[in-house]
Amino acid sequence: MASLSCLVLLSLIFSNFAHSLAGYYTSKPLAYNVPKKPMNVIDSCWRTKSDWAINRKALADCVVGYGKATLGGKYGAIYVVTSPYDDPVNPKPGTLRYGVIQSVPLWIIFARDMVIKLKNELIVNSFKTTDGRGAKVEIAYGPCITIQGVTNVIIHGISIHDCKPGMAGRVRSSPTHVGMRGGSDGDAINVFASSNIWIDHCYLARAKDGLIDVIHASTSVTISNNYFTQHDKVMLLGHNDKFIADKVMKVTLVFNHFGEGLIERMPRVRIGYAHVANNKYDEWKMYAIGGSANPTIFSEGNNFVAPDNRSSKQVTKREATNWQNWKWQSSKDVFINGAYFVPSGYGSSAPLYTRVQSFTVAPGYMVPVLTSNAGPLRCLVGKPC
Ligand SMILES: *[C@@H]1O[C@H](CO)[C@@H](O)[C@H](O)[C@H]1NC(C)=O
Repeated sequence: MASLSCLVLLSLIFSNFAHSLAGYYTSKPLAYNVPKKPMNVIDSCWRTKSDWAINRKALADCVVGYGKATLGGKYGAIYVVTSPYDDPVNPKPGTLRYGVIQSVPLWIIFARDMVIKLKNELIVNSFKTTDGRGAKVEIAYGPCITIQGVTNVIIHGISIHDCKPGMAGRVRSSPTHVGMRGGSDGDAINVFASSNIWIDHCYLARAKDGLIDVIHASTSVTISNNYFTQHDKVMLLGHNDKFIADKVMKVTLVFNHFGEGLIERMPRVRIGYAHVANNKYDEWKMYAIGGSANPTIFSEGNNFVAPDNRSSKQVTKREATNWQNWKWQSSKDVFINGAYFVPSGYGSSAPLYTRVQSFTVAPGYMVPVLTSNAGPLRCLVGKPC
């Protein structure tokens, strides 16, 4: 009775809403009528569940696109990082490096917030998930992540920024192998000759080289829900124009937010295939999507906001003169502030996903909502995230 009179009072005060409130209290309680913010298909698979912290491995089932089969550490034990300390040759138990080099599957989580300044590149072994949920985890100010010659790696909810080149020297890549490294380029994440890789909800900014490189015949990769900012050459897919083994490369880029201060390569593709879907582009200095050596690109349901510079409105850039037959197509994209996509080629550039890989691509106008939580999430134990 009290709540009913309260509603009546409210409807008197807010006379504009009186009509709709009357509609509510005669049918069902008000709360059910508050529209929930739509979540994208990856997030709605797990973020609504309050048991995420005791059921962490359920995340591995949520990936869509070419990285769909990525297991990460799904069939391994939980390993807890308790220390930000790093020793590239003889890593100590409790450090991130000790976890990622193991030859058994592991689901790696963090006991507390930490900034990990690596002393050399972090070489990740197969079947590992690095899961930052529940802590604020940064890999920063030193060399960053190398995923080389392996499979089944998930990186979720980590900030990777201000990455420096790796030093020439010895770095352990498994319990039984220490390799002599030539020094890494300074990418935030370098995916080299690897497959079944999923990078989700990371923050990526200010690296010496690229933020994410997927090269040297890597394939079956999904890059989703990441927040990219303050960087020149954002993402390279494909090693070089002569490396024809990259023909196998298939990458899904979905629900990412390309924020302020980015210049080019979101992504830059060579030879292989990229499905670029439902990403938000705030602006770019030079171009958003580019490439060379006849890559195939399907841009679907993205939200492109061009920069104010009248010479940089074009989304696309070809690093060649003879590109008229390259298959680059746009569908359901939204173009704002004069942005435009120059298509080329004939025939379908659709991703031809298997049933389990496929997902519904939303129209581009929904992308600001679908990407509104890109980057690491603040997840509280016992609550939906
Ligand atoms: C506008 O874009 C063009 C082409 O990318 C570039 O050469 C020029 O410097 C830009 N102008 C400004 C003011 O940023």
